[in-house]
Amino acid sequence: MATNITFHPGSVEASERAQLLSQRGLTLWLTGLSGSGKSTIACALEQHLLHLGKAAYRLDGDNIRFGLNKDLGFSPKDREENIRRIGEVAKLFADACVIAITSFISPYRGDRDLARALHTKGDLPFIEVYIDAPLEVAEERDPKGLYKKARKGEIPEFTGISAPYEEPDKAEIHLRTDKLSVEGCVKEIMDYLVAQGFIQ
Ligand code: PPS
Repeated sequence: MATNITFHPGSVEASERAQLLSQRGLTLWLTGLSGSGKSTIACALEQHLLHLGKAAYRLDGDNIRFGLNKDLGFSPKDREENIRRIGEVAKLFADACVIAITSFISPYRGDRDLARALHTKGDLPFIEVYIDAPLEVAEERDPKGLYKKARKGEIPEFTGISAPYEEPDKAEIHLRTDKLSVEGCVKEIMDYLVAQGFIQ
């Protein structure tokens, strides 16, 4: 970290910003295997929230790797840095009173916990959503043909095949996408947000 730097607070406090914008920011952190349904649910949820007049924005694993994180691969170190940066970016969105919806495999519990801690420190809600499809189901779906390639050894360190996925042990929301429809998943997340008073 650089030295000789000073944090400069703005003139509008967080509570005043939320009042002025009529919205509290938060991060919905979707985690799960490739092919579990993260991006599909994130898209449907973003659309639903926007149609309700809520500011919501998706940060998606594949998409972010075309830009901000194009220097990162899939080694444990690179995945850690990927999630560290996204934790910081999501926090900025939440701080700006936006509902940030992140969809990253984020396979390591420790990395997800760091993203959570960052939000907690900034007094911003962090809601971990486990997008859970058994490996057999995700592999059967194989929407991008990546599991097939990984089984043939053409993709090294592929999550679930040759790289680990650590299941969440404290997710606020657990969605079995082999049992629930996309609309059902969106409804569960919306019900949670309303029940917790995050949105009206
Ligand atoms: S991570 O683990 O959170 O850093 O990964 P993420 O940034 O979400 O990127 C996952 C997407 O990258 C593609 N892909 C791979 N996934 C897992 N392992 C390996 N080795 C790999 N190589 C490429 C894949 O399209 C993932 O997207 P999803 O939407 O999860 O299928």
